[in-house]
Amino acid sequence: MPIEQANPPDPTLEALLEQAHKAATNSYSPYSGFRVGAALRLSNGAVVTGTNVENVSYGLTICAERSALVAAVSEFGPDIRIEAVAVANLNNAASPPCGACRQMLSEFVLHDAPVVFPVAEGTRTMPFSAILPMAFEMKLK
Ligand code: THU
Repeated sequence: MPIEQANPPDPTLEALLEQAHKAATNSYSPYSGFRVGAALRLSNGAVVTGTNVENVSYGLTICAERSALVAAVSEFGPDIRIEAVAVANLNNAASPPCGACRQMLSEFVLHDAPVVFPVAEGTRTMPFSAILPMAFEMKLK
């Protein structure tokens, strides 16, 4: 199925999307104007949100998904597990999580956790394993 195709809404993910959307209102994005929010539902029941925070150096910018992730670990510690991820933006644009965020999420996310994100028309939900099928893992011999 092409990534642009929307799929039907799921009420629990819709609520998480709403929280991601709210988080996007705090975006610091004077350089791109792209206001992104992310919401993570953890296995302890908590929802942690984040937004993108840009920097004049551009490269130091942190995405909404990674902001939410570092906030979740900071608040609940290193044993967190992410059960669901929602991404939203205030620009009415498609915004699947970027590759760097997928790799960072892979450290804590459940294999088949749903990831919902905006596409050209509506939203799309995919299992995490489908958006990052071969995450980097360090297996030293
Ligand atoms: N951005 C996110 O917050 N999440 C993503 O997955 C991709 C991009 C932000 C970073 C930057 O502030 C703006 O969107 C434009 O790239």
